[in-house]
Amino acid sequence: MLKELSDNTVVPDAPTEWSSERSAELYGINSWGAGYFNLSEQGEAQVNVDFGDQQVVVSIMDIVLGMRARGLHMPAVLRIRNLLDHRIKVLNESFALAIAQGGYTNAYRGVFPIKVNQQCHVIEEIADYGRHYHHGFEAGSKAELIIALSQLRDHGSLIICNGYKDAEFIDLGLYARQMGINCFFVLESVTELPLLLERSRALNVEPLIGVRIKNSVVVDGHWAQDSGDRSIFGMSTDSLISIVDDLRNAGMLHCLQLLHCHLGSQIPNIRNVRSGVLDACRFYAGLVQEGAPMGYLDLGGGLAVDYEGARTNSTHSMNYHLHEYCTNIVESICETLDPLEIPHPVIVTESGSRHGRLFLHAAVQHTRRARQQTRPHSRYAAR
Ligand SMILES: Cc1ncc(COP(=O)(O)O)c(C=O)c1O
Repeated sequence: MLKELSDNTVVPDAPTEWSSERSAELYGINSWGAGYFNLSEQGEAQVNVDFGDQQVVVSIMDIVLGMRARGLHMPAVLRIRNLLDHRIKVLNESFALAIAQGGYTNAYRGVFPIKVNQQCHVIEEIADYGRHYHHGFEAGSKAELIIALSQLRDHGSLIICNGYKDAEFIDLGLYARQMGINCFFVLESVTELPLLLERSRALNVEPLIGVRIKNSVVVDGHWAQDSGDRSIFGMSTDSLISIVDDLRNAGMLHCLQLLHCHLGSQIPNIRNVRSGVLDACRFYAGLVQEGAPMGYLDLGGGLAVDYEGARTNSTHSMNYHLHEYCTNIVESICETLDPLEIPHPVIVTESGSRHGRLFLHAAVQHTRRARQQTRPHSRYAAR
């Protein structure tokens, strides 16, 4: 409603009745909160956490008051480990459901890209909770590989090494291989192969090798200008052929087991996801036909967060649900590989934003000290 003032200016009328529903609507909390956040009748922001079989509702104001009572000051970031656990759980279970429904004959193995959030307590939590689902790590540097190796709790999980690799980085990954860890070196260009082969011979350890391809799909959203053929990451078909030839000549084509691509982050449109998977599968099939054993298809990140809660394909939103994302991936792989009678690969995704960045707006200080205090709410708060 608008009202006119005496000087003829028109201003919105002040709402006569306030209610927490009106606030929830105004701030769109039910749209972006993904069921984790809502408002109480008193108008306090609440967080719903999964606690075993129950849902526990905690008032954020109570947490703030508890922290103040312990002498902690604002501003601060509140990190709720149960929500992080829940994100890993739903991602893994959604893939498990899509796999079961689609008659897919292999598994899902997620990896968390350490670059998205390198904080120790986040990585520890992912390693700890993720091991139930064999959720591993993606390492984009030597330092991140050290983190991944020190935290990985389960040998069924994967470590995917992307990025520039020097001899030390490679040696570290080869030692991990020797210890029985599924550590993949993803080659981003032909120039990386000679050093990998040299270190492998020197240490007498065979590497698990992946190749990163340049996906030709141009995605909607933020990365539109840098996707498809314009992407600076990944190999062209020529380079891929040259890697296959070099590996064959070195008698190591059997080490090539993974294909990786990353369409871009925050992909708002499910049609892009589908086209990207179809494109990746064509490369995958080509590598199998060249004689590489393959077995793993790593689709990178891209799973979006609906920051606006609008459910559209605009940059900060997404026009799909998690289950649709998983189903589209499973269906696209089957659609391409089944007619060629190529066995279904392990599906890998490197989703990070969905775990690492949703819980952003809350402002409560995290400290180790807070975690060590034993107050009733500290189980849910500040880890
Ligand atoms: C290779 C790779 N994998 C995964 C990710 C994380 O993707 P997302 O932010 O969409 O979860 C990124 C992000 O930059 C990336 O470059």
